[in-house]
Amino acid sequence: MKKLLWLSGISILLFAGSQLLAGGYAKALQTDPKARKALLAKGKTLYVKHQCQSCHGEKGVLQGDLRAAFTKYNDEELKQYIKNPRSYSNTTMPVYGELIPETDYPALLEYVKFLGESAFKK
Ligand code: HEC
Repeated sequence: MKKLLWLSGISILLFAGSQLLAGGYAKALQTDPKARKALLAKGKTLYVKHQCQSCHGEKGVLQGDLRAAFTKYNDEELKQYIKNPRSYSNTTMPVYGELIPETDYPALLEYVKFLGESAFKK
C-alpha cells in the first residue's frame, strides 16, 4: 500500500514536470521571437520537402487552400488532417499517414498556422 502511494506520488510529480516543460516551451515561443523564427524556418523547409507547396503554393493557396485551417482545427486536429485528410473532407490531398516523422510536426504545424495568420493580416 505504501509502495502504491509512493508510486502515484512519483507519477504526479512526473506529470506536473512535463506540463511545466510543455508550458515553458509554448511560452518561450510566444516571448522569444528567435525561437519562433527558428521553428518557422524549419517548418518552411518541411513544407517544401513534403511537397505541401506543390499543391498549397508558397502562400498557402493554390490547388488547395489551407489559409483558414488554423481557425478550424487545433494542433492535434491539424496533425490528424495531414495524416488522414479523407477523414475530414472529400479531398484529393494525399494521405500522409506515417510518412512524416512525429518530430517534424511541431515545426510543420507552426508553419501552416503562420501561412494562415500572414494571409489574414493583409
Ligand atoms: C496533391 C495535392 C496536395 C498536397 C501534396 C498536399 N495537400 Fe493539403 N490539401 C489539398 C487539397 C486539394 C485540400 C483542400 C481540401 C478541401 O478543401 O476540402 C487540402 C487541404 C489541406 C488542409 C485543410 C484545409 C482546410 O481549411 O480544411 C490542410 C491543413 C492541408 N491541406 C495541409 C497540407 C500539408 C501540411 C501538406 C504537406 C505535408 C499538404 N497539405 C499536402 C491538396 C494537397
